[in-house]
Amino acid sequence: MSDVRLQDIEACVFDAYGTLFNVHAPVAQMASRIGENADDLSKLWRQKQLEYTWLRSLMGAHADFWQVTGEALDYALAFFGIDDAALREDLMKLYFALDTYDDARTALTVLKDGGMQTGILSNGSPKMLGGAVDSGELGALLDHVISIEEVGIYKPDGRVYARAVERMGVASAPNICFVSANTWDAQAGANFGFQVARINRFGLRDDNIPGRPLALLDSLTDLPAIVGL
Ligand code: LAC
Repeated sequence: MSDVRLQDIEACVFDAYGTLFNVHAPVAQMASRIGENADDLSKLWRQKQLEYTWLRSLMGAHADFWQVTGEALDYALAFFGIDDAALREDLMKLYFALDTYDDARTALTVLKDGGMQTGILSNGSPKMLGGAVDSGELGALLDHVISIEEVGIYKPDGRVYARAVERMGVASAPNICFVSANTWDAQAGANFGFQVARINRFGLRDDNIPGRPLALLDSLTDLPAIVGL
């Protein structure tokens, strides 16, 4: 339980992948077809997916998150010497309809019942975010689902975070509680001006970059209390 209390929060905005949705669920479900490297493959897939977003943003060579996710999976499969088109297709299908974390659903329900505005701000393309939101039946719990495709560049570009301020209709950045499980995303959001809660799903330390979250949560069920609900 966190004893931090954030003030003047008008909206809670969530990162999607890793925060609301379990990005390691697809490989876990296919683990018997992958073998002993399953966990390492899932980690490499995620790491390459993020690296490719950063690289493409710096290169000025944007491609949407579905394409980047597939290209990262191809790298990870090749790294582990796996050549299996059916497995690739099955993993991508599962990625389109990722499992929602239980504590995320609980937190969103309490926030909505308490009258808080809620949204997603994610690298995901509108279509794949729609797939995850539908499969988790979260539509009624979210006021806005904002994709970086509206801006055309990936997090942590400041224009992405600024888009959330515009779309959520809040007075200014500190009126948003931004929630992410990704250290770099939480920290970039804090550096931008959000009040940030990081959900510590992966037992990671803060990175040595600007920006610090105000709260570090063990479970998203603790979130409503820190925003005053
Ligand atoms: C997202 C990635 C960063 O949903 O997890 O934006």
